[in-house]
Amino acid sequence: MKATIIFLLLVPACWAKPFQTGLFDFMLEDEASGDVSTERFLSPDPMGPICPFRCQCHLRVVQCSDLGLESVPKDLPPDTTLLDLQNNKITEIKDGDFKNLKDLHALILVNNKISKISPGAFTPLVKLERLYLSKNQLKELPIKMPKSLQELRAHENEITKLKPAVFEGLNQMIVIELGTNPLKSTGIEKRTFSGMKKLSYIRISDTNITSIPQDLPPSLTELHLDGNKITKVDVNSLKGLASLTKLGLSFNSISAVENGSLAHAPRLRELHLDNNKLIKVPGGLAEHKYIQVVYLHNNNISNVGSNDFCPPGYNTKKASYSGVSLFSNPVRYWEIQPSTFRCVYERSAIQLGNYK
Ligand SMILES: *[C@@H]1O[C@H](CO)[C@@H](O)[C@H](O)[C@H]1NC(C)=O
Ligand SMILES: *[C@@H]1O[C@H](CO)[C@@H](O)[C@H](O)[C@H]1NC(C)=O
Ligand SMILES: *[C@@H]1O[C@H](CO)[C@@H](O)[C@H](O)[C@H]1NC(C)=O
Repeated sequence: MKATIIFLLLVPACWAKPFQTGLFDFMLEDEASGDVSTERFLSPDPMGPICPFRCQCHLRVVQCSDLGLESVPKDLPPDTTLLDLQNNKITEIKDGDFKNLKDLHALILVNNKISKISPGAFTPLVKLERLYLSKNQLKELPIKMPKSLQELRAHENEITKLKPAVFEGLNQMIVIELGTNPLKSTGIEKRTFSGMKKLSYIRISDTNITSIPQDLPPSLTELHLDGNKITKVDVNSLKGLASLTKLGLSFNSISAVENGSLAHAPRLRELHLDNNKLIKVPGGLAEHKYIQVVYLHNNNISNVGSNDFCPPGYNTKKASYSGVSLFSNPVRYWEIQPSTFRCVYERSAIQLGNYK
């Protein structure tokens, strides 16, 4: 029952796909063998820590959200696996705030007023996998985050730049979400992400970055960079991204996708380039084996060539398209050759629409 309540509270913070099912695995494990820890809360050891006043503690989950707290409660039970402190008024995370929490897997600090995290604050958290810092006032990410970390969410903060030192040694990291931060055009240094060999998902939306971050790791499967100020996809910007399946670049100012860029991402299935300034269909789609979704609506494309989407001839192993959008472009749709979409077997997959 309790697990259900917590799940509902967490939904806004964990909506993105990769961890939809994984998040509560460790809680379910505890549920099965929960007797020992439950008992401890029912008859607390008078010498040991008990549940902090007004928080709720159950099955090693400590729930202290929405309490108006201005600092992290003292004496948290040392066997806590999930600590929820969201929707409070915490301003600072100090060294010692999480001492003894060596079993903590998930720490939720979303929607507080945190502007400072002391460098040693996370050191005791040797098993931390999920750290949610979104909706705070951080100007930079803390260095010395636990090496066990798999998922970091820090959207809606005041972060202006990212340096390689922040992610150094975080070899277990899988998901990074950093959208809606005032990241400057050159705010992401080279090699910031390159060391994370398991990194699969990056989302950096609604910032002021003007180019695709460099040196992304080859493990990446999803890169979401919508709502930025990116002006161009240059030929090397996707270099080495052999596992990439989804690329989101909607709502930027991209006027060109250089020839050869897409060939660097041979497994790409979805390409979102709608709401940009493209004047032509990106090169390389026809030869691309797996691409299925190509959003190009709301651009400045005035001409679509008959070999832009499909390879010459019919006998080909190319995957069929499931979604292509071209509406709201100045192209005259009646001038597009019907054969342009000869490799598309589902007519409804193509959205042309009318240009006003
Ligand atoms: C981007 O830069 C502009 C101009 O400097 C600024 O007004 C705006 O708030 C910045 N946006 C973000 C998301 O950082
Ligand atoms: C890109 O490739 C197309 C088709 O192969 C070619 O017509 C065009 O000139 C190339 N553009 C550049 C800038 O090389
Ligand atoms: C659209 O492209 C044409 C050239 O094909 C250019 O003259 C025009 O300024 C562009 N419009 C916008 C809104 O970028």
